[in-house]
Amino acid sequence: MTNPRKTAIITGASSGFGATFAETLAKDGWNLILTGRRTDNLTKQKQRIAMHYQVSVQTFTADLSNNDDLVGFLSVIDKYTNIELLINNAGFGLIGNYFKNDFSDA
Ligand SMILES: NC(=O)c1ccc[n+]([C@@H]2O[C@H](COP(=O)([O-])OP(=O)(O)OC[C@H]3O[C@@H](n4cnc5c(N)ncnc54)[C@H](OP(=O)(O)O)[C@@H]3O)[C@@H](O)[C@H]2O)c1
Repeated sequence: MTNPRKTAIITGASSGFGATFAETLAKDGWNLILTGRRTDNLTKQKQRIAMHYQVSVQTFTADLSNNDDLVGFLSVIDKYTNIELLINNAGFGLIGNYFKNDFSDA
């Protein structure tokens, strides 16, 4: 089903699951707002989607653990009235026993 009026936000869209979600939703006609810290990856992702799908893609570079970046991102998405989906995927994983992992670099 294609509905170009719907907009989705994907955090952590610069790689991995987030990039795959972006491609999948673009294929289904969703306009996208993509965020992550790596501007180059986001730009490549936007270009790749633009080559294949007729949807609008906005990218916004932000470290969501940084309050200023977060406020900047919120001010961008605040202008939209048609956001219907949030894929809040940004994050990282560590392997091992949760209670023994070192989160100091995270
Ligand atoms: N892969 C698995 O087996 C697995 C299993 C369970 C859960 N998960 C979870 O699923 C999510 C995606 O995993 P993945 O394997 O696709 O990992 P990934 O390839 O490392 O992608 C993580 C995404 O999150 C973004 N990100 C990380 N920290 C951020 C921050 N502070 N601010 C903004 N963006 C940030 C990264 O973008 P930048 O680096 O550009 O910021 C990247 O786009 C993670 O939350 C992970 O914990 C993964």
